[in-house]
Amino acid sequence: MDFHVEPSGTLNGKISVPGDKSISHRAIIFGAIAEGTSEFSNFLDSEDCTTTLLAFQKMGVDINLNKTNLFIHGVGLRGLKAPKQSIDAGNSGTTVRLLAGLLGAQNFNTMITGDDSLSRRPMSRIIEPLSIMGVHIDSSLGCLPLKIQGSASIKNIEYKIPVASAQVKSCILLASLYSRGKSNLYELNITRDHSERMLQAMQCPISVKKNCISIEPPKLLKPLKMSIPGDFSSAVFLIAATLISNKSSVLIKGVGINSTRIGFLEIAKKMGANIKLSNQRKFGSEPVADILIQSSSLRSITLDDPELISLSIDEFPAIFILAAYAKGISRFSNLAELRLKESDRITSMVEGMIKIGIQVKENSEGVVITGGKPKGGIVNCFSDHRVAMSFAIAAIGAYDKIIVKDVESVNTSFPRFLKTMQEIDVKIKRV
Ligand code: S3P
Repeated sequence: MDFHVEPSGTLNGKISVPGDKSISHRAIIFGAIAEGTSEFSNFLDSEDCTTTLLAFQKMGVDINLNKTNLFIHGVGLRGLKAPKQSIDAGNSGTTVRLLAGLLGAQNFNTMITGDDSLSRRPMSRIIEPLSIMGVHIDSSLGCLPLKIQGSASIKNIEYKIPVASAQVKSCILLASLYSRGKSNLYELNITRDHSERMLQAMQCPISVKKNCISIEPPKLLKPLKMSIPGDFSSAVFLIAATLISNKSSVLIKGVGINSTRIGFLEIAKKMGANIKLSNQRKFGSEPVADILIQSSSLRSITLDDPELISLSIDEFPAIFILAAYAKGISRFSNLAELRLKESDRITSMVEGMIKIGIQVKENSEGVVITGGKPKGGIVNCFSDHRVAMSFAIAAIGAYDKIIVKDVESVNTSFPRFLKTMQEIDVKIKRV
């Protein structure tokens, strides 16, 4: 299945985006070990979140999904049952890394597998802190499959996380729920804090001071009831599409604007983007707003700030497309983590940008992009949802059509992408 996208002129519309992927995963994981029933609306019903849901059903948790309303009958901290088979995390890094922390502290053993892309991604970043806590994990040279020997009594940890990663942080937080005492984690750069907010709302003793998170094992976790905000990382494709189009105005309603997620706004504004937030409110402990975007003439940017990069880590494929349309030469560095995502996002994006006629140079930790107007062409997305969606929007102001090959991966995070794009008048079809 491919996307065919024609240059699209003016975009207009008032729309919403599906629920946040990171929060939807956490809704299931934390809901499953709460004491009682949690209810979440606007759950993201996508392939990635389904892998997490199936994993907990295999461990005896009763979960009902009615459209986007999720009901989880939590079994308490000690109520999970050993799954009969191995757990398949599919394409989802969040599933495997968060589950490893939780499963390391159970009184049963588990095995986690994943697809080809996930099986290439590094797991030593979670194996190391978990082994310090006393969990034994066998891996294939630091990659999947993971064989986790659960241990019902694990050590607390004092740990400086060597990579900026919310998945690693959340993995250790989940293990720490079961440890013998207080754990302190130090982050290199601040990363998304949905786990901390959720745990706080569930009355877990957890506190955050700048880059240090302290957590003590709770007696129990209280169930939650909240609406999941629209996924800012999905909204970014609509924002970028509107910015690079002509005379457009698009309003996206109910999007999460947690400060640990919206580095993209700062970057886009530095590039001259006209984006306004309104109707700010909260869904549970997560801040939400409506986002109004207007077409803008963009200028190039130089970006190397690790803090800002950490706050916009999933948005670089879309940011590269903005740079491809901006006036001048954009320089991006300190992006080594992008090589470890669903695909190597530096190489995937560079290869595609060259194919659509953008002047671009790759280096080990970054990329230099000379702005212009894409010619159009045929690109691969390397089974990476965010690469696929980025090249789909790249066609909007191009000279000619862009075909993005094999876009099935979009279902991992944004199954309604095509429909939502059509709703704002993007000339996109699936072939
Ligand atoms: C995520 C954390 C980030 C992000 C991913 C989701 C999460 O990964 O890229 O899409 O839900 O915690 P890293 O922790 O590897 O940076």
